[in-house]
Parts: sequence; structure tokens; C-alpha cells
Amino acid sequence: MKEKLQAIRQKAIEKIEAAESLDILNDLRVAYLGKKGEMTEVLKGMKDVAAADRPAVGQLVNDARKAIEEKIEAVKKTLEAKELERKLKDEVIDVTLPSKKLVIGHKHPNKVVLDEVERIFTGMGYEVVEGPEIEYDYYNFEALNIPANHPAKDEQDTFYINDKIVLRTQTSPVQVREMEKGKLPIKIIAPGRVFRSDEVDATHSPSFHQIEGLVVGKNITFADLKGTLAQFAKEFFGPETKVKFRPHHFPFTEPSAEADVTCFKCGGKGCRMCKGSGWIEILGCGMVHPNVLKMCNIDPDEYTGFAFGVGLERITLLKYEIDDMRLLYENDERFLKQF
Ligand code: DAH
Repeated sequence: MKEKLQAIRQKAIEKIEAAESLDILNDLRVAYLGKKGEMTEVLKGMKDVAAADRPAVGQLVNDARKAIEEKIEAVKKTLEAKELERKLKDEVIDVTLPSKKLVIGHKHPNKVVLDEVERIFTGMGYEVVEGPEIEYDYYNFEALNIPANHPAKDEQDTFYINDKIVLRTQTSPVQVREMEKGKLPIKIIAPGRVFRSDEVDATHSPSFHQIEGLVVGKNITFADLKGTLAQFAKEFFGPETKVKFRPHHFPFTEPSAEADVTCFKCGGKGCRMCKGSGWIEILGCGMVHPNVLKMCNIDPDEYTGFAFGVGLERITLLKYEIDDMRLLYENDERFLKQF
């Protein structure tokens, strides 16, 4: 028994001293001192020891247990100290290292242009308002003097939610919503997303953006519209830019026009950009139709107004000389990084 105890104690001390981690140490504690550990097994053998020898053997067992426990504690301390040292070394922070560069995004070219347009118009005293993208057929068409069966309804291929609700095909319904509020005069621009069931190609997308403009007040004339758009074109495309108006038709304006600007690439001489004509079409506009004013409870004998609608993508592509609208939607970083 004595020899056996001695052997176990010896072996245990050796193994504990060799333990390389706290986990191994803990396994050793269980293996020697645990409920089913070797020392416990030895204690179970006490019943075979002669009664007279029991106190002496018991003492030996206790001594061995104590020696093993003390060894474990000592090795544990050393291992813990080593572990701490390793951690401190690993987690050391060098405060003199240069910081990592923050990667910040770029404004999308559409947003760069929208900000610029808003800056120009707010500079002329306009307010920026918004309207819903999901719109009543009434606001998108009827109140804009486009009755049911009007051919203009086919021109703009519409996404219908149901009989009465559409995805707006234009920002013009915001004009109606603004006029219905009954607060005059009005001087607003309304940027936003519009939808048409068009196939995607270099110049079309089922979802794009427009910026609507509306001014209603007393004595507002076509001359005000011309002056406003001339000022906008100069600020946006450059101080030499001129604007010309071609007669056109829109149901919600009378008279209506399309506005062209002198080509900012060739200055009007004719180039690839303007297809040789020297002019580039940029928007639709006109004097608010008396029917539209009436439907919004505004007396057309007392008040007049002008309106215009610009395609945001259109002027973005022009400004940056981008020849494919799809580039604006693909979120290719190599493209976006340039703005
Ligand atoms: N809403 C028209 C379109 O999407 C653009 C437009 C033309 C808006 C003339 C206007 C306007 O406000 O007066 O084609």
C-alpha cells in the first residue's frame, strides 16, 4: 500500500509539473483527486489495511493528497501568470500606428445633380416638396386634364395597382396636390421617382426621376417661365447657355413648349453630342391649363401659373456626357467613384 501510494504521488507530481495548460492541469486534478480519481480508489482499499496500521496509512494518504493539491496550485499560478503575459503581449496596442483610412461613399451622380438643381431653384426662392410615388389615377391623369380614354394615357405606359391607383408616371400630380392645399402663391419644385412600364435600354428604365416645377400667382406669364428657365440653364450648363422654346403639346399646360439649350459641348456649332443641331432638348413646360386650375379650385381669371418637368437622369447623362442610362443603376463602384 505504502509503495503504491508513493508511486502514485510520484507519478502525479511529475505529470503536474509537465502540464502545459490550465486545461491539462484540470484534467489531472480530476484524474487524481476527483470522485473516481486514483487517490479515491486508494482510500477505498483502506478496509483491507490492518486496523492498527490505518492511522499511519491514512496519514500517508492525506499527505499525498496535500502534496498533489499544493503542486497543482503552484503550477496553476505559474500557468496563469504565463497566460496573462501572453495575453498582454498579443493584445498590446501601438498607439503610434497610423489609423486605418475610413472608406466613405460617393454621392450618386443623380444626387449630385439633384442637389445642384435644388440649390439653383431654392436660390430663386423655390420650396422643395414631395408627393407620393403610389398615386391615385385622379392625380396622375384626371386632375391634369388627361381624362379616361385620352391618348396621353397610352403614351405613358402605366403600372396599375388597381382601377384607381397607379405608380405615378410623372411628378406632375404633385402640382395638383400643392394647388389643392389652397395656399397661394405657389413656388415649388418637386423631385421624385416615377415609373413607366418601359423595357430597359440605354435611354429607358421602368423607374427614373423627374423634377417638377410649379409657380402659381397673380400676373404670372410665359415671360416668367422663359426667364426662370434661362437662368436655370445658365447656372446649370454654363453662363453662355441659351434656351429656345419649341411649341409642343401637354394636356395640363396651354400653351405648351419643349425647351432646348445650346449644346454646352460645342457651344451651338454642332457636334456629336447635339447630333449636329447645336441644340439639346432638356424639358417640357408651359402655362398651367385653366382646366387644371379650376379642378384645384383656383380661379383662372385671377391666377395664372407656369410649370415644367425635367428628367433628372436626362440632365445627369448630359452634364457628365454619359451615353448609357443603365450605368446610373448598376452601382458599379468603378463608375460611381468618379463622381
Ligand atoms: N409630365 C411631363 C412628362 O412626364 C413633363 C412635363 C411637361 C411636366 C410639361 C410639366 C410640363 O410640368 O409643364 O412627360
